Amino acid sequence: MPQNSTTITITEDGITLPITSILTGRGFITGKSGSGKSNTASVVIEELLKNRCPLLIIDTDGEYRGLKEQFKELIHMGQQQESDVELTLDRVDLITDHALLEGAPVILDVSTFETDQAKSIINEVVTLLFHKEKEHRKQFLIIIEEIHEFIPQQGGVDKLAQNIIRIAKRGRKRGLGICGISQRPSAVDKDFITQCNWSVWHRFTWATDFKAVSQTLGTNYANEISTLETGEAFLATDWEPTRRILLKQKETFDEGATPHEADPIRPNFKSDQNELIEQLRSIEGPPPELDPDTLRTELTSKNSRIKDLEHRILELKAELESKPPSSSPNSSTSSLGKNDNNTLEGSMDSIRLNQKKQTIPDSSQEFNPIWEIGQLILYVWREFIHIFLLVLVKIKHIFKIKL
Ligand SMILES: Nc1ncnc2c1ncn2[C@@H]1O[C@H](COP(=O)(O)OP(=O)(O)OP(=O)(O)O)[C@@H](O)[C@H]1O
Ligand SMILES: [Mg+2]
Repeated sequence: MPQNSTTITITEDGITLPITSILTGRGFITGKSGSGKSNTASVVIEELLKNRCPLLIIDTDGEYRGLKEQFKELIHMGQQQESDVELTLDRVDLITDHALLEGAPVILDVSTFETDQAKSIINEVVTLLFHKEKEHRKQFLIIIEEIHEFIPQQGGVDKLAQNIIRIAKRGRKRGLGICGISQRPSAVDKDFITQCNWSVWHRFTWATDFKAVSQTLGTNYANEISTLETGEAFLATDWEPTRRILLKQKETFDEGATPHEADPIRPNFKSDQNELIEQLRSIEGPPPELDPDTLRTELTSKNSRIKDLEHRILELKAELESKPPSSSPNSSTSSLGKNDNNTLEGSMDSIRLNQKKQTIPDSSQEFNPIWEIGQLILYVWREFIHIFLLVLVKIKHIFKIKL
């Protein structure tokens, strides 16, 4: 049932959060594994979706698809069979447009991607959203699971980390909010945590995490945090004093639940955004990635083959010059046979095969050195062209040149 409230309710006993502060703010949901973070995030998302709020979820564990059980307008982009559309870098532009302008809520499931691939997709998403929001200024929330992987406290600050921190610092004025989820607050860039206007702290038991809790909430809460039950948390906001709460359980299918043998088969929820899905599907992905190592190996082998053949051409030329014009074709062929290495034999065979395919005069039965040399030169030339095209395709792919 669509609602039109200014707040969302996140506990059974009626604790609420103001929608605008969540949609355009900076949130942090943290706690040890299994303490209830994803459930909390899902409760917030469900309540926002009931109010038709636009949002985009970066799902690193493939656990938010169950939201489609109730919210058919959600589009799941990923690499799973159940995804509505395959997630590719080329489709990010269109989906961010729709998400912002038409409020189509989106799950970008990067759980099956290599870290680098996932990072480049997320970077594209946050960059596009930040720039598009300069013009549109619509309230919009981006939710990022396992945010410590993208804005680590230690290690190099890459483009993605810079762009996420930029949203945390400057997104609010454009209407762009962010909510990060992490089981390790000590591993998350402090610049992000200090910018947050709301945070939910679930159970912790590690000393390193106590430090992060006491720095943010104070030592009293740090001492108490190991006593929290699953689903319980400290809610810290800019508008009310910190308090201990018990989150309600999410309403939709729990993909993140610990698997049990008796579990039912995962249901296949489909989005109802058929037109958009068709549009997204019509955007072709890039050509298959050409692996530089494979290309390099191929290039080396082709070069060495060309050298072999050039060498053989010289041999044949010398042989031709030293032979009297009357020498019999049979004897020439047999002398060739003795000297040939396997590589050349293979190429000569293929040349002869080509000869047979072409219409050639009766002399095809004889060894004609000039004709053979001509064929070899043609072969070498063809190999050059082949390598040239391979290099051209790679350059085109790397620099995304459209011919
Ligand atoms: N508020 C709650 N009420 C009832 N059950 C809950 C609540 N929060 C969490 N749970 C239960 O605990 C399980 C683990 O919760 P959840 O997946 O949210 O943990 P998590 O902190 O995200 O774990 P991880 O770090 O491993 O992803 C859920 O499947 C759910 O069954
Ligand atoms: Mg989780």
